[in-house]
Amino acid sequence: MEILIYPAAQVVARAAAEMIGLSAQRGATLGLATGATPLLTYQELIASYRRGELSFAQSKAFLLDEYVGLAPNHPQSYHQTIREVFTSHIDIDDSAVHSPDGAAERPWEQAQEYEQLIIDAGGIDLQLLGLGTNGHIAFNEPATSLSSTTRIETLHPQTVADNARYFSSVAEVPTHAITQGLGTILRSGHALLLATGKAKAEAVERLVEGPLSASCPASVLQLHPHATIIVDEAAAAGLANLDYYRYVQTHRPDWQGADGLPRLV
Ligand code: F6R
Repeated sequence: MEILIYPAAQVVARAAAEMIGLSAQRGATLGLATGATPLLTYQELIASYRRGELSFAQSKAFLLDEYVGLAPNHPQSYHQTIREVFTSHIDIDDSAVHSPDGAAERPWEQAQEYEQLIIDAGGIDLQLLGLGTNGHIAFNEPATSLSSTTRIETLHPQTVADNARYFSSVAEVPTHAITQGLGTILRSGHALLLATGKAKAEAVERLVEGPLSASCPASVLQLHPHATIIVDEAAAAGLANLDYYRYVQTHRPDWQGADGLPRLV
């Protein structure tokens, strides 16, 4: 894994936006995350687009997850959120931004169809990820099969509590989500996980240095052939091998990967 540590969340966002921008320029299929962490990255990308440096016209996007029970036009649905915070401000075609339908009559079939839609699109080239305080990625909660595909997940009470800030009360937070599985995420060409703030420090430590375990679903990224973890100082604070990761970062070679993209920011 590439572990990149930057002094503050804004610098994390710039580094992430640079990687995503390079992929978008190649018409990549992007996997998008919602939540608070990627917001600064989306703002960086929108600013680059407005400066005329970037186009997303050739890209498609797939969201990681959607709440079961929320229709696409619900203000708290991820379908709606991603448009508000990112895709309606850039030149990606709205019909190219996909997410599971949280209001589908048969959510299980919907999950399977979404998995197939990703496969039919040729897979996700770059998957952006946030990190739950309990180690989840997408909505894969502890004890998720490490090879799971898109399905319905019961949200951990900790996740419900963490996300209550977007709703008027905890009782309004849906208890289930349709989420890409860990196996789905493992199939992406490049997994790019961002974590900022001290509330994420323990989960970052478990992801990077803990055992590979379904108890920390994010640790599955240890199996990903190309995973980049970008964190700020606060989120990196619990890492035992921090000095080594910094050493690698400052001795980073300038060569490119086989895909022609720089391997490190
Ligand atoms: C959101 C998602 C979640 C979040 C995670 C962190 O689409 O899949 O895994 O990335 O819960 O959320 P924030 O960034 O709000 O701390």
